[in-house]
Parts: sequence; structure tokens; C-alpha cells
Amino acid sequence: MANETIDWSNLSFSYMKTDYNVRCTFRDGKWGEIEVCSDENVTLHMAASCLHYGQEIFEGLKAFRGKDGKVRLFRVDENAKRMQNSANGIMMEPIPVELFEQMCKKVIELNARFIPPYGTGSSLYLRPLEIGIEPRVGVNPATEYLFIIFATPVGPYFKGGFQTTDVAIYREFDRAAPLGTGRLKVGGNYACGMRATAKAKANGYSAALFLDPKEKKYLDECGPANFFCIKDGVYVTPKSGSILPSITNMSLQQIARDLGMEVQCRPVPVEELAEVQEAAECGTAAVCSPIGKIYDDGTDITYNIAKDGKPGPWTTKLYNRLRAIQLGEVEDTHNWCTIIEGI
Ligand code: PLP
Ligand code: COI
Repeated sequence: MANETIDWSNLSFSYMKTDYNVRCTFRDGKWGEIEVCSDENVTLHMAASCLHYGQEIFEGLKAFRGKDGKVRLFRVDENAKRMQNSANGIMMEPIPVELFEQMCKKVIELNARFIPPYGTGSSLYLRPLEIGIEPRVGVNPATEYLFIIFATPVGPYFKGGFQTTDVAIYREFDRAAPLGTGRLKVGGNYACGMRATAKAKANGYSAALFLDPKEKKYLDECGPANFFCIKDGVYVTPKSGSILPSITNMSLQQIARDLGMEVQCRPVPVEELAEVQEAAECGTAAVCSPIGKIYDDGTDITYNIAKDGKPGPWTTKLYNRLRAIQLGEVEDTHNWCTIIEGI
């Protein structure tokens, strides 16, 4: 697609073909050269370990064209570290942080014409993924891996952008086991959550909100994002062994402290939702998406959080500050952004 025909302000969160992806293969005990590829396809052995035994991990991060025209990549080091953690968790080969960062920069440079202009609300989403490619019939980790990063311009994850949406709790589903892979970004977690998400969407909700899989007493996270709420001016977010440590949540907690708020990271009982004034989903794709109502099918209670249906004042402040840092509108006091020079 010629990029002058892209309607940058109205992009959805979906795949658009760009010019290049970058790849690197781990074989014979070492990572090879970075390859630049214009083919969107991957040719795999039919017995590759990713196809049978779920050796697949991924990441998601965004690059933004800022107010000053510079391109900023948000917290790439954190994504690199989390991907190493995911790899270690399911016996895959960890990608060196430097290689991860180098490949992110390269894929942005190669697809610079797909970076949405400043002011459009859109960004260039990077999707790094690693798969086990060695043929395996017995259940064993592979010794050969393929690491790919592709880039695609995206708009908001939830239709309408920064507006409230409703979410639902369905107690018949878990996305992760108590000591399972919930803390890792493995593809299998998303497969596990798909029935709950499909049911939520069929009933008019934007996402499923999962409870802790052990006791079903505490809030865990949403299918594609972490959860936080505001209770009497305090930023409260679940502490749990089965949720993905969100880089956006980590950043919002810091911003909340910067704004003078208290931050609590602790188990959050479902019933406490009756006492909160604001709630939101947060993540790279979701950014900071305010929640209107939360329906719990176990008790048939609907928690009406945003009573006027609008994003609350703290959520709005947190969202605005995060976006302003990403877009270079305010000083990046925590050094979260890497500027990609020359594009
Ligand atoms: N939780 C889940 C299950 C996710 O898929 C994501 C998205 O990456 C998040 C939380 C948010 O994490 P991050 O803010 O690092 O994107
Ligand atoms: C992200 O926010 O980057 C994710 O990976 C979530 C995904 C479900 C879109």
C-alpha cells in the first residue's frame, strides 16, 4: 500500500503489510546474522516444536513520531528482559538484550514510512516473536529457534480509543494456572483465554476479566491487559503470581507516584470493586483504557464504576501523562524512550 493512502487517524489494531521484517536464527549453539526479509511467510518443518508443544513467545512494543519529529521507542529494554524471562520459563533460547534492541531499531528504520505522523493517535507496533523450529516428536525443548520482528501501524485496541468499555468476569474460565505460564508472554495463554474473550464480546463486553485461578477470590487481569483501579485517590493494582508483569502498568505506577498518588500492589478481592471510583485496563495495545461497568457472572452483580459513563479524572491524568512522554510532549524524566536517529 502506498503510504499516502493510509488513513493514519482511523487505523484499527490490526495487521497491515509493511516493507520488511527482520529475522535471526539460533542454531549450533549461537545466534546467526540478522536477516532482512520482505516475505511475510515462514516456512517450517511440520514437526517444529512450536507447532506441537507450544514453544512460542512474543512481545509487543510501540514506536511513536513525536511532537519534535523524532521517533521514540518506548521501554525497549523492559520488553527485551521480559522476553528473556518468557524464554527461560518454557525452555527456549533467550535472546540477548542487545540483539533484541538492535533488531527493533532496524525494523523501525526499514519501515520508517509506516510510522504514523504525530497527532494521529496511531503508532508503529512492533511484534517480536520467537519459535522453536527444530523437528520434535518427543516432548523436549528444541535446540533451534527463529526470532522475527515485524512492524505494523496501529490505532487503538478498543474501538473508540479513550472511552469507557465494559468488561465481564466468567468464572468457568482461567487464562493461566497458579504455577503455570501466566507470568510469561507465551502464545498458549492467549489460546486459553479465547473462549472467555469470545463470550465477553458476544455479550457486548470489550474483554474478559480473569480472577486468580487458585481461589477465584481476587482480580487477576484482562485477556490482553493488566487491571488497575483508583480507590479514594490511591492507585490499586493486583499482585498475583499468574499475571503478566505489564510494562505499561509499571510505567503508570511510576507516573502515579510522580503525580503524588499512593500506589498499592496487592491482592484485590472482587467485592472491593464496589468501593472503587475508577478502573482501567492497561497495556501496550490497550494503553490505558477506562472501564465503565464490570459484570461478575458468579454473583450476577454489575459494578457500575464510571457512573457517568466517562473516563475518571485520575485515569485521564495518567493516560495523558503516559502519552505525553511517548510523544515527546513532556520531559522523559525516567529515560523510558529510545530515540531512533536519522528517520
Ligand atoms: N497482560 C497481558 C495478558 C497482555 O497480553 C499484555 C500485553 O502485552 C499486558 C498485560 C500488558 O503488558 P505491557 O504493558 O507490557 O504491554
Ligand atoms: C500488547 O499489548 O502488546 C499485547 O501483546 C496484547 C495483545 C493481546 C494485543
